[in-house]
Amino acid sequence: MECKLWFGLMIIALSLIVIDNGRVLATMPKEKMMKLNSLWDEMFKNQSSSSNDGTNDVIRHWATSYPSLSDDGLIYYGAKATLSVHGVPEIKANQFSSACIWISNGDGPNLNVITAGWTVHPYIYHDNRPHFFTLWTRDGYQTNCYNTDCPGFILTDKSNALLGSPINQVSTYGGPQYNITIKVSKDPTSGNWWLYYGPSGDYDKLNAVGYWPSSLFTTLVDNASEIQFGGIVTYYKDEQGPPMGSGHYPNEGEGKAATFYGIQVVDRNGNMYDFKDNPKVFQDKRECYRVSEFKDKSFFYGGPAGCIN
Ligand SMILES: *[C@@H]1O[C@H](CO)[C@@H](O)[C@H](O)[C@H]1NC(C)=O
Ligand SMILES: *[C@@H]1O[C@H](CO)[C@@H](O)[C@H](O)[C@H]1NC(C)=O
Ligand SMILES: *[C@@H]1O[C@H](CO)[C@@H](O)[C@H](O)[C@H]1NC(C)=O
Repeated sequence: MECKLWFGLMIIALSLIVIDNGRVLATMPKEKMMKLNSLWDEMFKNQSSSSNDGTNDVIRHWATSYPSLSDDGLIYYGAKATLSVHGVPEIKANQFSSACIWISNGDGPNLNVITAGWTVHPYIYHDNRPHFFTLWTRDGYQTNCYNTDCPGFILTDKSNALLGSPINQVSTYGGPQYNITIKVSKDPTSGNWWLYYGPSGDYDKLNAVGYWPSSLFTTLVDNASEIQFGGIVTYYKDEQGPPMGSGHYPNEGEGKAATFYGIQVVDRNGNMYDFKDNPKVFQDKRECYRVSEFKDKSFFYGGPAGCIN
């Protein structure tokens, strides 16, 4: 009996881990996406007792912006952005909606990814509030890890142990906007990837949260080949999608749509610089979730609940 329960919990935990495969699939060729999607679907299938007819495939959509040229050619050493934070009330237990920075290198089983941002993820956090979180993998998501749930990420100051914590101040539509600032940057001396966090209004005064030792990684040892900024949602095919960002389209603009601003990337010496080019966008379901043009180091993104497939 106890053993069964434990096994059940383990399956659920594994499934939750795999959900987050979605976060980086945007950067992969289609075959790879398909492969990971089917693995994810297989593992997630039995999570929903309400749909046991085998049609409960899992849907993921992204709306992201990404640079395609850096000071160092096509390699990056980190990124920084301020993200508006939103509650996502219309989210169901099986869904999540996140805003993230993704930093990655390699592909297939050699895909290494560091993700940091906020997520509304009822399965993991048992509430509908946005939580500051990180996730990393070094094997294309065969294994991966949230926050400090497994060894790897080193928290440097336990008093700053806000990884996984709910973010108290959230933006209101047309009212005050609250933000968090996140920076991930490779220390040029040690080679470790450091995570910095600033609460609302603190663009420059960031706290070091901790670091991922470069030795954790296989392809992120020296540099990143891709950086992405934006939103991701996940839901079952037979449900309607949750809101992304504030739940409003980017064209509603400041104070209404969710935003990333103060976006910069990090060069090999650890210095910040602005994008050199006009970034590209990835929006795989534009009728539901969108990204605006990139302007003054910022963009808007998101969309309302109700997306069908
Ligand atoms: C899902 O549940 C059904 C019946 O409860 C079971 O027969 C099947 O093996 C399960 N599938 C997986 C992938 O766990
Ligand atoms: C959050 O960012 C917006 C800009 O998008 C700014 O207007 C607002 O003042 C910021 N909020 C705080 C509390 O600093
Ligand atoms: C960037 O990382 C890749 C993959 O690990 C590596 O092959 C390459 O040599 C690195 N380039 C530099 C300049 O460090």
